[in-house]
Amino acid sequence: MQHTILAIESSCDDTSAAIIQNGSVRSNIVASQDAHRLYGGVVPEVASRAHQNNIVPVVRQALADAEVSVNQLDAVAFTRGPGLVGSLIVGISFAKALALSQDIPLIEVNHLQAHVLSAFAQKPYPSFPFLCLTVSGGHTQIVLVRSPLDMEIIGQSIDDAAGEAFDKSGKMMGLDYPAGPIIDKLAQKGRPVFEFPQPKIQGFNYSFSGIKTAFKYFLRDQVAANPDFIAENKYDIAASIQHRIVTILLQKLRKAARKLQINQITIAGGVSANSYLRTKLQEMGEKERWDTFIPPFKFCTDNAGMIAVAARFKYMEGEFSDQSVGPLAKWKF
Ligand code: KG4
Ligand code: ZN
Repeated sequence: MQHTILAIESSCDDTSAAIIQNGSVRSNIVASQDAHRLYGGVVPEVASRAHQNNIVPVVRQALADAEVSVNQLDAVAFTRGPGLVGSLIVGISFAKALALSQDIPLIEVNHLQAHVLSAFAQKPYPSFPFLCLTVSGGHTQIVLVRSPLDMEIIGQSIDDAAGEAFDKSGKMMGLDYPAGPIIDKLAQKGRPVFEFPQPKIQGFNYSFSGIKTAFKYFLRDQVAANPDFIAENKYDIAASIQHRIVTILLQKLRKAARKLQINQITIAGGVSANSYLRTKLQEMGEKERWDTFIPPFKFCTDNAGMIAVAARFKYMEGEFSDQSVGPLAKWKF
């Protein structure tokens, strides 16, 4: 089915727009908001205002890069949730107005389903059923995907998300927000010489609050003995906490894959940009004889390309929304 769809993502602190045409992502523009760095975390009010400033130029750029004009669009898609309501509203309102003015259908997309479907942003594609490890700033999930629109969470974090574990650990080390990518860089020069406990959680669920606490007391004790401990050991500290988080993530993924006898494995979400996770997943995949699908960086962190991919599947099924649709801060699938 021929189609040209504009997709908008505004669930957190990135304003993004993408065009998908006949199954291929033609453009994917992301405006990241630097303003939050000052505060050590995302400030919802600041995010909403920045989305408002960014949305028109970002959409214009996405159209221009794809060489598509507004009147060629067959549908407009948007992230309905989960996310910050004030941020979501900016994308939703824009999408609604555009759909109304062009008389085209609206497509609502679940941000977390879109992360999972980012596996279809670029070939080769996994075959069904597959398992996706979604690791972002707000979520850590193992998702069983039976078909594009039929997926089930079979394991998830009972407390902090993996991205939060990176960000909070980094904050304790005095790093800027978001600390995940900074830890990734520092760790490349270090070795995982410091040990942190392994959580004991049943089934395929995760917990990261225990290692956060262990990390806090570890730093407190070391700094009491040597005030320069963090500065002198930042590479090894980063490598150690990263090693622990990544090991926890991969052990549960392996347990799920073995139990369900699934050998198609993908990863998604901001933390899947982590270079150590990518290397270790590849290694595990070779040992376990998995077909491992690791998306390019641009489809890992928040981006409208993945919203466009998810929207395309809904477009083919004729799953449209009406003008009364509103944002959802939480949205289970
Ligand atoms: O999916 P995402 O862009 O936004 C959410 O929906 O949450 O994920 C953001 C998270 C942040 O916690 C950030 O620190 C983490 O992804 N992240 C990383 C890396 N790049 C982004 N964590 C570890 N290593 C990275 N290279
Ligand atoms: Zn995300």
